[in-house]
Amino acid sequence: NSYPISGNEPVLNYAPRSPEREALRAELTAQKNACRDIPAVVNGQSLYGRTTTPVRAPHDHERVLANLYHGDRETCSAAIDAALAAQREWSNWSLQERSAVFEKAADLLAGPWRARMNAATMLGQSKTCYQAEIDSACELIDFLRLNVQFAHEIAQMQPRHAPGVRNRTEYRPLEGFVYAVTPFNFTAIGGNLAIAPALMGNTVLWKPAATASLSNYLFMELLEAAGLPPGVINFVPGDPVEISNVALNHAALAGVHFTGSTAVFDSMWGEVGRNIARYRAYPRLVGETGGKDFVLAHRSADVDALAVALVRGAFEYQGQKCSAASRAYIPASLWPAVKTRLVAMVKSIKMGDVCDFANFMGAVIDKRAFDRIRSYIYRAREDAQAEVLVGGQCDDRSGYFIEPTVIEVKDARHALMENEIFGPVLAVYVYQDSQWDEVLQLVDGTSAYALTGAVFASERAAIQQAGQALRFAAGNFYINDKPTGAVVGQQPFGGARRSGTNDKAGSALNLLRWVSPRTVKETS
Ligand code: SER
Repeated sequence: NSYPISGNEPVLNYAPRSPEREALRAELTAQKNACRDIPAVVNGQSLYGRTTTPVRAPHDHERVLANLYHGDRETCSAAIDAALAAQREWSNWSLQERSAVFEKAADLLAGPWRARMNAATMLGQSKTCYQAEIDSACELIDFLRLNVQFAHEIAQMQPRHAPGVRNRTEYRPLEGFVYAVTPFNFTAIGGNLAIAPALMGNTVLWKPAATASLSNYLFMELLEAAGLPPGVINFVPGDPVEISNVALNHAALAGVHFTGSTAVFDSMWGEVGRNIARYRAYPRLVGETGGKDFVLAHRSADVDALAVALVRGAFEYQGQKCSAASRAYIPASLWPAVKTRLVAMVKSIKMGDVCDFANFMGAVIDKRAFDRIRSYIYRAREDAQAEVLVGGQCDDRSGYFIEPTVIEVKDARHALMENEIFGPVLAVYVYQDSQWDEVLQLVDGTSAYALTGAVFASERAAIQQAGQALRFAAGNFYINDKPTGAVVGQQPFGGARRSGTNDKAGSALNLLRWVSPRTVKETS
C-alpha cells in the first residue's frame, strides 16, 4: 500500500503579461474594491455576531477590506458542539476518504483559487506577490498534499507479529476537539494548524488572527468547496481571551494547535494546567512560539552570499516571519565588506503598496506592531551602545511602514540581540576573529529562544564545530543559507526552548500528535 509521492508545488514567476499575473491583478482590483463580510462558520452555517471590526490593508489603512463578525461565547460553544457531533462520522471515514477532500482542496488552490488566495494574503497581510505565492499558494498546497503522504507513512508503522499472534496499531484520532489558534503571518500556517488534525480524523475549532481573517476565511470557503463536511472545521474569529476561555475550560478539549507569541502560549498552558482534572483526557499541547533567530558568520564565510542572506532573512515580509534573521554575529575581518554590501542593498530596497510589483517590502501588520517596532528603533537612536547604520524611518500616515533597519550594537547581550522585535530590524554584533569559540557560546546563551539559525563558513571544521556547539540553539539549522523559507517535506519546521514544542510542521512528527493509537492483539 505505497502512496504516490508528489513533489512540492512549483513557485510561479508572475512575469509581466503572464496569465498568472493577469489573474492576480484582476483579483487584487476586485478584492480591493469590495468590502466582504466575514462571519463565523459553525457546522457549515455562517453566523453573524453582534460585534464587528474592520479588516484593513496594512499598507493602506484607510481601506477597509472586510467586516469581521466576532463569534461570542455562545458561538464558540456551538462550534465545539458541532465539532463533537461531526467527529463521530468524520473519524469513521477512511484515511483515503479524508485524504481525497484535502487533495481536492490542493487542486483547487493550485488552479482556480490560487489568484484569489494570493490576492487576499497580499491585501490583508501586506505580502508582496512572491511572499504570498510561497505562502498561500505553494506552502499551503504542500501542506494539503504532503500531509496526506505523511499520514499514509504513519499508517504503515505497524508492530510485529508472533506465532499465533497478530498485532496492529490503529491510528485513532484524539477523543474530543482540537483548538487551533493561528497567526497573521502565514496563511499556510493558519490552514495547516486546522487541517493537520482534521486529516487524522479530528474535528476542530479554529480561531484565526483577525489580521489574517480575509485569507483564512477564503481558505475555509475553499475547504467547503472541496467537500469538507460541515462541523469538521469550525471557524470562529473574535476576542481571543473570550474564545480561549470557552475552549480551554471544556471537558472535551483534546488538543491545542498553536502558532503565536510565547506569552500567549504560556498563558494557555497555565490555563490547561489549572483545568487538568476536568478534561476527559490529557490534552496535547503543540505550539510554535517566538524566535530570535541568528546568523553567525565565520571568517571563512562567502561575503556576498552572507550579505544576501542577511537582507532576505531579515527583511522579507518586513521581518515578520518567526524564522526571520534578527541577530547577526560577523567577524571583524569581514565586517567592512559585509557592511558595505548590506548598506547598499538595504538602501536599494523598495517599500510600499504590495500591489506595485516592484516593491520588495510592504507594511507591518498593524498599529500595535508599528508602535512596538518603532519604540525599539527610537530607543536605539538614543543609546550609546547602538548605532543605526541604515534605515530607521517610520511613517504610519497612510500605511504602517518601517524602513529596513540595521543596527550595530557594541554589547553582545544588548536587548536588541535578545528580545524578539518581530519587524524589519537586524541587530549586528562584530566579534574579533580570534574569539570564535566565545562567540559560539554567546550565540547559544544569549536568547531564550531556539527556533532557527544559520552559520556561514567555507571551512568544514568551522561548520562542524558550530553544528555541535549550537545543537540546542535552533530547531532549524541552516548552513550557508538564510534561516527563513522552510519547505514542507524538505525542512520540517519548529524550534525548542521558548520557541515551542518542536513538533515539526510539514512532517509526520506533527501528525503523530493528532492521533491516539490503539494497539490491537489478536490470537488465533
Ligand atoms: N516556516 C516559515 C519559514 O521557514 C516560518 O514560519 O520561514
